[in-house]
Amino acid sequence: MQLAVISDIHGNSDALDAVLTDIRRRGVETIFNLGDSFSGPLDAAGTAERLAALNLPTVRGNHDRLLVDRPVEDMGAWEQWTIGDLSGATLDWIRSLPLTLTIGDVFLCHATPQRDDENWLNRRGADHRISARELTGIEPHAAGISASMILCGHTHTPRSVRLPDGRRIVNAGSVGCPAYRDTRMEPNFIHQEGGSDARYAIVERVDNDWIVDLISVPYDASRMIERARARGAETWAQALETGWFV
Ligand SMILES: [Fe+2]
Repeated sequence: MQLAVISDIHGNSDALDAVLTDIRRRGVETIFNLGDSFSGPLDAAGTAERLAALNLPTVRGNHDRLLVDRPVEDMGAWEQWTIGDLSGATLDWIRSLPLTLTIGDVFLCHATPQRDDENWLNRRGADHRISARELTGIEPHAAGISASMILCGHTHTPRSVRLPDGRRIVNAGSVGCPAYRDTRMEPNFIHQEGGSDARYAIVERVDNDWIVDLISVPYDASRMIERARARGAETWAQALETGWFV
């Protein structure tokens, strides 16, 4: 049985369409969504429309929570761009989302099983870039989870690791936000996937184990780049153009 895993769409409805087309092309029928679906300067309304029609098993991301846990004036830029584009029904849906879900032998979370906003398989390195986390920093977060497949997102960095006991943890990467620059700190923290493609994962149960496919789908980002520029989100436009900051 193949399962498609999407995460961190961040309002990029064109990247979402490209990923959904690829999932259909491969004949995969089950899709899980790991959250951070809307926040950013792109197309939150179009993303909400698509997700409402799909009705996927979904967990809440930190950026989803930030849309519903504070007044608008206390929101960050990514949420301020987004909040006015979402209907009351979408905000109610966000409020209803769980932090984690267990479906059969699969565990879903946005960031870690404990929190929606901490990096799990990767960490912020001393060079202000994402680097791979060691086992000692990964394993404790998986304590008590009996599922053999554990899914996460949040860092926008696809990665598949195996714990010594055989369980897998897979970060599906980001459908809609291939790079970002955190200008709130000096020097800026920069994450870049090094390509503008939409990322997602397919995991497949084979015999008693899992085969993991980390997938990179090209798409035409020009409409999203225009929307980012129209809102003055130049780092978003650069990220969507190339997936690099140069
Ligand atoms: Fe995210």
